Amino acid sequence: MTTVDDGPLVLGIETSCDETGVGIVRGRTLLADAVASSVDEHARFGGVVPEVASRAHLEAMVPTLERAAETAGVRLDDVDAVAVTSGPGLAGALLVGVAAAKALALGLGKPLYGVNHLAGHVAVDQLEHGPLPEPCLALLVSGGHSSLLEVEDVTVGVEPLGATIDDAAGEAFDKVARLLGLPFPGGPHVDRVARDGDAAYVEFPRGLTSRRDLERHRFDFSFSGLKTAVARWVEARERAGEPVPVADVAASFQEAVCDVLVRKALDAATDRGIDHLLIGGGVAANSRLRAMAEERAARLGIRVRVPRPGLCTDNGAMIAALGSELVARGREPSALDLPADSSQPITTVVA
Ligand code: KG4
Ligand code: ZN
Repeated sequence: MTTVDDGPLVLGIETSCDETGVGIVRGRTLLADAVASSVDEHARFGGVVPEVASRAHLEAMVPTLERAAETAGVRLDDVDAVAVTSGPGLAGALLVGVAAAKALALGLGKPLYGVNHLAGHVAVDQLEHGPLPEPCLALLVSGGHSSLLEVEDVTVGVEPLGATIDDAAGEAFDKVARLLGLPFPGGPHVDRVARDGDAAYVEFPRGLTSRRDLERHRFDFSFSGLKTAVARWVEARERAGEPVPVADVAASFQEAVCDVLVRKALDAATDRGIDHLLIGGGVAANSRLRAMAEERAARLGIRVRVPRPGLCTDNGAMIAALGSELVARGREPSALDLPADSSQPITTVVA
């Protein structure tokens, strides 16, 4: 027997970085997840160029909306609410999504929810694995953020336990990939080449894990020292005229990042007495991170939930998923003069 989800029909728009995402969900059922990426336009700069991203969002918005509605087999008239990422993210990029969402909400006469991008990365897992365990510990790792959050009810707020004090985990992957001559964005390429490498080839530093650092930064991360260590190691090899074993360096770097992420996430879960770890954000697509988290968590009796890779990277479905949960729990919508807030705090789920 198939069950029919009779939850709210919600459209979600995401434009915080370089992905124009439009997702449509009914309750916790994913109906459409249309994404247009401008990543190729940024590749030659080795990072996302905000102005280029904003323009690409403008061009992609209407076609992506149409594609989502067609895939879902719904008319925009039918939606119960419109949700949009109001922050954090690139100001100009966010503005495009917020303006589109306002126009839709106003034109259709439907409530508007301006939501937090990070809370969306948490909520999206409901589309794949059902209701979130309450509480759960979330490790969010992407190109822009690396955070450990305690989530009691994702529609109310999350408690930040720790975050990166310098580079985000994805940023470290992208920078190291560049050093190794791999294309942008580097995460998936490091992941791929590391499969043929020896993770114990170089013992790279594990940031903020010394006894002294743990006193002040138990749940915080630092990846810039690791990036520098990889750069120095590669330079030394090149100076000596020796070839750089790309796969081994990639695997050793990846091992260092994953080791710290998993170690700290499980330490936080144990400390808080939480037995569910949720991993989200683009870096959650990393195969070593997934395997290591599963293996070490199992030993502690902690269950790991990771959405499939396509739902880990930025998309509109995650915003629709959060919107749907907000509607289902009767949360107040945003005002129609909702601003885009590039530094929206993680504690503000609905702006
Ligand atoms: O969540 P996301 O799509 O966008 C941001 O909000 O930043 O994350 C993108 C980041 C990039 O840094 C990319 O290199 C990284 O996620 N990433 C990965 C993998 N796939 C994407 N990092 C490591 N391994 C992967 N398989
Ligand atoms: Zn993201």
